[in-house]
Amino acid sequence: MRISIIGTGYVGLSTGVGFAVKGNEVVCVDIDEKKVEKINSGIPPIYEPKLDDYLKKVLKEGKLKATTDLKDAVEKTDVSFICVGTPSREDGSIDLTYIESAAKAIGEALKTKGGYHVVVVKSTVVPGTTESVVIPNLKKFSGKGPNEIGVCMNPEFLREGKALEDFLNPDRIVIGSIDKKSGDTAEKVYGNFRAPVLRTDLKTAEMIKYASNAFLATKISFANEIGNICKRLGIDVYEVMKGVGLDHRISPSFLNAGCGYGGSCFPKDVEALINKAKDLGYEPKLLQEVHSLNKRQKVSMVGHLEEKLGDLKGKTVCVLGLAFKPDSDDIREASSISIISKLLERGAKVKAYDPKAMENMKKLFPDIEYAKGAKEAIGGSDACLILTDWEEFKRLEAKDFEGMKGNVIIEGRKVLDRNKVSGFEGICW
Ligand SMILES: NC(=O)c1ccc[n+]([C@@H]2O[C@H](COP(=O)([O-])OP(=O)(O)OC[C@H]3O[C@@H](n4cnc5c(N)ncnc54)[C@H](O)[C@@H]3O)[C@@H](O)[C@H]2O)c1
Repeated sequence: MRISIIGTGYVGLSTGVGFAVKGNEVVCVDIDEKKVEKINSGIPPIYEPKLDDYLKKVLKEGKLKATTDLKDAVEKTDVSFICVGTPSREDGSIDLTYIESAAKAIGEALKTKGGYHVVVVKSTVVPGTTESVVIPNLKKFSGKGPNEIGVCMNPEFLREGKALEDFLNPDRIVIGSIDKKSGDTAEKVYGNFRAPVLRTDLKTAEMIKYASNAFLATKISFANEIGNICKRLGIDVYEVMKGVGLDHRISPSFLNAGCGYGGSCFPKDVEALINKAKDLGYEPKLLQEVHSLNKRQKVSMVGHLEEKLGDLKGKTVCVLGLAFKPDSDDIREASSISIISKLLERGAKVKAYDPKAMENMKKLFPDIEYAKGAKEAIGGSDACLILTDWEEFKRLEAKDFEGMKGNVIIEGRKVLDRNKVSGFEGICW
């Protein structure tokens, strides 16, 4: 099929490349010219394992191209996926500015296009958004109705760091649609995927995404809560959660205690759902607690450090891991941001290292020191905090810590191998 992807970030690019790998003709649209240039020259603007090779392959096969010309892209395709960002506003509610402008631009492009066209919202949007924002704008700017424009909501569940793998092998494909014809067209796009397809109405599909993220965030906050109790009892929460996760009703996934969840999804989606619930006159106490526990968990790393080191003023703290998770360069809402801010507030000097995320972090913290490798960051520091479970940190040995001035090592993720390093402790183990 001929597919246009509107918004070529983490989700849009993975979706575009994924559909092209599956044999479709894809045009990726973005308002960011630099991104478009990079994509066309085979350089992914983000770091994702395997994306580089797949992008080069589909470009070479002529299955994918990128452009800033949304009108042309929409006119030459049959289905458009909206993959623009849906960030949080200051008060935590969802900012639909990009969704609205994408819907307007697609509507305008469809005004002169002949034939049936389906618009699929893939961005995460609070229940009711497709009906109240996307459809009215499509209608207003195209002057067309449901006979000519189909509308679907198809949430994306991929994980950064495994984006392509997840996109190509999803657990399920959820398609909410305004009518049967739209849904059938979206389902056809996924015709050569092997996954159960769940067909719903638009707002149910929107809610499935929020409920999924809220539940996963709850699992993590639950594991952190149990971990904080375990720490005080001298129990390893990882052994506890292994025992808990073996129960098939629970599953072992997302029970890893640590220094809180980050990323562009869980924090903003939990907050957006809290806000939506409040708008509806409902106080979502469980979700509010999940959210605030997570914020507390992040900065509790600094509390642990102060217990060991006392006043942090003038102390050098090495921070290993800046990305919100391994195999990604994404730092959005990463625990490292709250922790570095707190360390600087306390007058500490920060030396940081991450295999992929340092360039992004330099935009936020241009004045901290960035090292070329873990060993260099560790050297001369009073303490070391490990905040991302990169494979490379799992290989660290006692000799890599020999250059430290102090001896405090605290893990925010379970990374270090006890057979190779000793004298460290975990945030809640
Ligand atoms: N990142 C994830 O892991 C993930 C997973 C599932 C769902 N989601 C959801 O998918 C959506 C996109 O997330 P992301 O992380 O890819 O965002 P992103 O910020 O990485 O990418 C969004 C892109 O849209 C572009 N854009 C904005 N307005 C545009 C317009 N009018 N026309 C064309 N391009 C436009 C931006 O320039 C940017 O490149 C969000 O709603 C997010 O919640 C994200």
